Amino acid sequence: MNQNELKEAVGRAAIQYVPDDCIVGVGTGSTANYFIDALGEIKGRIQGAVSSSVASIERLKKHGIPVYDLNAVDRIPVYVDGADEINRQLQMIKGGGAALTREKIVAAVADQFVCICDESKLVDVLGKFPLPVEVIPMARSYVARELVKLGGHPVYREGVVTDNGNVILDVHGLQITEANKLETAINEIVGVVTNGIFAHRRADVLLLGTADGVKTFK
Ligand code: A5P
Repeated sequence: MNQNELKEAVGRAAIQYVPDDCIVGVGTGSTANYFIDALGEIKGRIQGAVSSSVASIERLKKHGIPVYDLNAVDRIPVYVDGADEINRQLQMIKGGGAALTREKIVAAVADQFVCICDESKLVDVLGKFPLPVEVIPMARSYVARELVKLGGHPVYREGVVTDNGNVILDVHGLQITEANKLETAINEIVGVVTNGIFAHRRADVLLLGTADGVKTFK
């Protein structure tokens, strides 16, 4: 199977975690897109979705799936999304698609986070994938200097504005062995909106697409 087929397999496998009549949390990216397409096939048994990006909202609507504002929703039983890297503790780096803040918000509300990835995303130590940090535009240079003090090499993602009107710094050169600690430290820099470490809210389930089929980790 090629990488897209692995992504499609995990996108389909995640449907088993979607309870009847629920409002499902839907993430962003090429793997999440396969989940959205699979959701379209069972849309009659769900109420609708809350999503983490404008792009995913558009795709959900194309499938005729009702999309709700998060503030109008009491409970999300499950949030399904991809990751840029995931380790065996199911801590992740996310935000390659610049949707990290809304992803973290929807994940925080959800009872269960199901991460869907192809096997290239599973790593021993997080950090080879540059860590995305969403920043208020006027704080960009200050935040970059503070990130250097934490041992990283921040690079401004030029030409990208998030759905929230902010900018992204991608931090290279990190070896993230204490993910909880670094997530907190970066959040404490004034001007940071969110960083792409998902450790405090890690995944509950990983569906990993491999050449031997979909493997489940908890
Ligand atoms: C979006 O901001 C990211 O967090 C995505 O979830 C992540 O980049 C995974 O994307 P792919 O499924 O396209 O690899």
